Amino acid sequence: MTLANDMTDWIDVAATSAIADGEHVLAEVDGYPVAVFRIGDEFYAIEDVCSHDGAEIASGVLEGNDIVCPRHGARFCVKTGAVKCAPAYEDIRTFAVKLENDRVWLADGPA
Ligand code: FES
Repeated sequence: MTLANDMTDWIDVAATSAIADGEHVLAEVDGYPVAVFRIGDEFYAIEDVCSHDGAEIASGVLEGNDIVCPRHGARFCVKTGAVKCAPAYEDIRTFAVKLENDRVWLADGPA
């Protein structure tokens, strides 16, 4: 028998219908600024801080699954936080997302 052991607290961020495909909303989780993106019917959350020099990454352009930093053009995968090109070399933190009752919920800390 497996006992449920989900110690994660979840934070209600927005109605799923409030985030259009290709758009995002901002939230704060445990002191981290977080951007929650919708790509199709999937939702992904990354820290809203470029690992190169701290720009607000969500204000950049979303190209497919990638967000392009508005300051110097580094690129990150929104799904994984993985850095895709210089001048950044470190991934961005991600946050778990779940959908429940037509709302988007964020885990209360980084993945
Ligand atoms: S701050 Fe994002 S690429 Fe420099």
